[in-house]
Amino acid sequence: MEFQNILVKIEDGVGVVTLNRPKALNALNNELLTELIHVLEDWDRGNEVRCIVITGSDRAFAAGADIKEMAPQSYMDMYKANFFAQANDRISAIRKPIVAAVAGYALGGGCELAMLCDFIIAADSAKFGQPEINLGVMPGIGGTQRLTRYVGKSKAMEMCLIGRNMDVAEAERAGLVSRVVPAAELMNETMKAARTIAERSVPIAMMTKEAVNRAYETTLAEGVRFERRVFHAMFATHDQKEGMAAFGEKRKPAFEDK
Ligand code: CAA
Repeated sequence: MEFQNILVKIEDGVGVVTLNRPKALNALNNELLTELIHVLEDWDRGNEVRCIVITGSDRAFAAGADIKEMAPQSYMDMYKANFFAQANDRISAIRKPIVAAVAGYALGGGCELAMLCDFIIAADSAKFGQPEINLGVMPGIGGTQRLTRYVGKSKAMEMCLIGRNMDVAEAERAGLVSRVVPAAELMNETMKAARTIAERSVPIAMMTKEAVNRAYETTLAEGVRFERRVFHAMFATHDQKEGMAAFGEKRKPAFEDK
C-alpha cells in the first residue's frame, strides 16, 4: 500500500509511524486512518516490528478528526459507515506495545488516538484536549470513556464540557502521560523506551499489555485471576526459562519469542 498521509520506518525492531498531513495539523481523515490501521495491523502480524511508535510533528500530534470531512455528514451517513468504529476497534486490538510520542496539539481525535496507544511520552510543548463541544458534538473515538479512566471524572467532565486544553504539567499530574521530556528530546527518549521494549520477549510483552488492559474491562478479582493465569502460562515459555537463567548466570538474556 502506498501511503499519502503517514511516513513509516523500521529501526532496531521499532516501527515508527509519523502522521503527515502538515497543512491540516495531521487531522485524522478517513484516508489517514485507513493507512494507519493498515500499517499497524501489518506490523502486528509480522515478526520484524517488536514495538510501535506513533508520532506527529513538532506543532501537532493531531488536531483532531478532520472537521471538514465530517461537516456535511448526515446521521445516516455516520450510522451506516459506523464512523470511527474501525479506528477504535482495530487500533485497540493491536497486540504489540504502542507508544505515543506527542508534541504540540493532541486535540479531539488526536487526544483519543494518543489514548489508544499503551502509554504517552509528551514533549513539554504538548497540549491535550477534547474540544468537540465547541463544534456541537462530543468525542467519538473513545474520549469520554478513556479520558475518564485516565484522569478521573472531574477533569474529564471539565475537558469535555468546557473544551479546555491541558498543558503537559497538568497531564502528567493527572496521569494522562507517563512522562514529559524537552521537545528536542522527544524522539530520542521515545525511541530509547521503544528499543528497550523491542529487546525483550515480544509474546511476554503482548501478554503483559493484555493483562494491564484487562484492568479497564473487569473487576479487581477477575483481573487478578486473569493475571495469575497468564503469569502461570509464562512458565511454559522458553523466554521465562532464559530470562531467569540469565539472571542467575549474570548475563544478558537472549529472548527468542517463544
Ligand atoms: N480538521 C480539519 N482541519 C483542521 C483541523 C481539524 N481538526 N485542525 C486544524 N485544521 C486545519 C485548519 O483548518 C487550517 O487549514 P487552512 O489553512 O486550510 O485553513 C490548518 O489546519 C491550520 O490550522 P489553524 O490555522 O487553525 O492553526 P492555528 O495554529 O491557528 O490553530 C488549533 C491550531 C487551535 C489546533 C486549531 O486548528 C483548531 O482549533 N483545530 C480544531 C481542533 C478541534 O476542534 N479538534 C476536534 C475535532 S472533532 C473530533 O476530533 C471528533 C472526535 O472525537 C473524533
